[in-house]
Amino acid sequence: MAPQTSDHVSDRVAPALASTQPLLEFRGVCAGYGGADILHEVSFEVPEGGLTCVVGPNGAGKSTLLGTVSGVVRTTVGELVFRGERLKKATPRERLERGIVQVPQNHSLFREMTVRENVELGAFILKDRTIVRERYEQIAETIPIVAERAKDKAGSLSGGQQRLVEFARCLMLDPALVVLDEPSMGLDPHTRKIVFKTVRSLHRHGRTVLLVEQNARAGLRLATHGVVLENGRVRLAGSGREVLENPEIGALFLGGVVGASRPAGAPETPPGR
Ligand SMILES: Nc1ncnc2c1ncn2[C@@H]1O[C@H](COP(=O)(O)OP(=O)(O)OP(=O)(O)O)[C@@H](O)[C@H]1O
Ligand SMILES: [Mg+2]
Repeated sequence: MAPQTSDHVSDRVAPALASTQPLLEFRGVCAGYGGADILHEVSFEVPEGGLTCVVGPNGAGKSTLLGTVSGVVRTTVGELVFRGERLKKATPRERLERGIVQVPQNHSLFREMTVRENVELGAFILKDRTIVRERYEQIAETIPIVAERAKDKAGSLSGGQQRLVEFARCLMLDPALVVLDEPSMGLDPHTRKIVFKTVRSLHRHGRTVLLVEQNARAGLRLATHGVVLENGRVRLAGSGREVLENPEIGALFLGGVVGASRPAGAPETPPGR
């Protein structure tokens, strides 16, 4: 029998139980777009196998934070450490090669290309066509809209369907870290549920997920870990539950006193979102 050391435990084995091992660490990260920094000394960990949800008001710097992960936003001070290695000099492509894949906030499919072509583009850094085909077939099985609309132009899909195709595209690289920026934005409640279910399923199947979610309460409910960002600073970090149940955070960001149950039928979305 194989010895039960951590080397023999794939990160696909016990997905819902996040290990304490960080896959990604933010260490005192300051970042911006060339002018004054937008992020200020941001420090927190994204545990391997966990689902970490970042919440905060509009303009707090959530997308900027994710930009530092994919490498499109420059870190001025501090560093990001992925699997124990600094990312500072890694280009966006090198980060993809290391398994960091992002689905951006705005829709990003090529509308004139088919769904299949868009999904396969997710594997553009892979040369082995057999792997690309096999992955595509696997993903088309798990995200049915891909198989159903494979030959249709991506632009003919609804917003929610496009979102699911974007998820499919990001899975083509078999990512170690899936970074999702507001995946439920602009979706009707039914489609939003499907999107959340898909996010949960990514996590349950062992992916480490870093999620920014406008629907803070729903995002934190899915999450093993939560981070509240305000004015580019970490206001609170803890387990998803701790953040969800923090009364101050609840009053500020979650539309009321948290811990108190929502009245039946009350929307999950906080006021103003
Ligand atoms: N490309 C850019 N160039 C310059 N400033 C930017 C750029 N993108 C964002 N900003 C600024 O950075 C700040 C944080 O923006 P960011 O998009 O990260 O916030 P957010 O928390 O994702 O907001 P939202 O909830 O609206 O998506 C804002 O003040 C914004 O104006
Ligand atoms: Mg944003």
